[in-house]
Amino acid sequence: MSALLVYGENRPDHLFRSTTDVPLIAHELAACGVGFERWDCRYDLAATAAPEEVLAAYDSDIQRLKRDHGYLSADVVRIQRSSEDSEWPEIARTARTTFLAEHSHSEDEVRFFAAGSGLFALRANGFVRLVYCEKGDMLRIPAGMRHWFDMGTEPSFCAIRLFGTSDGWIASFTGDPIALRFPTYDGVFKKAM
Ligand SMILES: [Fe+2]
Repeated sequence: MSALLVYGENRPDHLFRSTTDVPLIAHELAACGVGFERWDCRYDLAATAAPEEVLAAYDSDIQRLKRDHGYLSADVVRIQRSSEDSEWPEIARTARTTFLAEHSHSEDEVRFFAAGSGLFALRANGFVRLVYCEKGDMLRIPAGMRHWFDMGTEPSFCAIRLFGTSDGWIASFTGDPIALRFPTYDGVFKKAM
């Protein structure tokens, strides 16, 4: 179930409010410039669906975002355990660590979860908003907003990414260890959701 938890950026021990109500999540996030939508997930794509198949299934929403926000391209990123893959623990650890520290980008970060889930943390206006995204959720983080992403210790998701430049984006890490003070994907959501 999609969820939003709001903390003061200096009060990781105090949950100001939380909700699983999708319109409320979208409303709260819109107030700080973040887009949140639930897309129609009538497509039951196989776990092994090719990127082209995933993109085709959600083409109408992808084209709408391109029109509305000027994005130029889209791709698919999939991280999930392969039963034969002996290197999975290292792959999972490396993937999780990559964006676990606070960073920002010079362009929007746009993710649609076609499968699986992940936890975004958005820092703005003195608050940290943890957004648990699952299949069907689209999150659009504006350029420059400080954030981090936790896919958990056992990552499993397939996400569509949209880009405003043809060569993708680069993370600019802030060096602030704030992410270490807030709940993780595993700590809060894996059991509760
Ligand atoms: Fe990011």
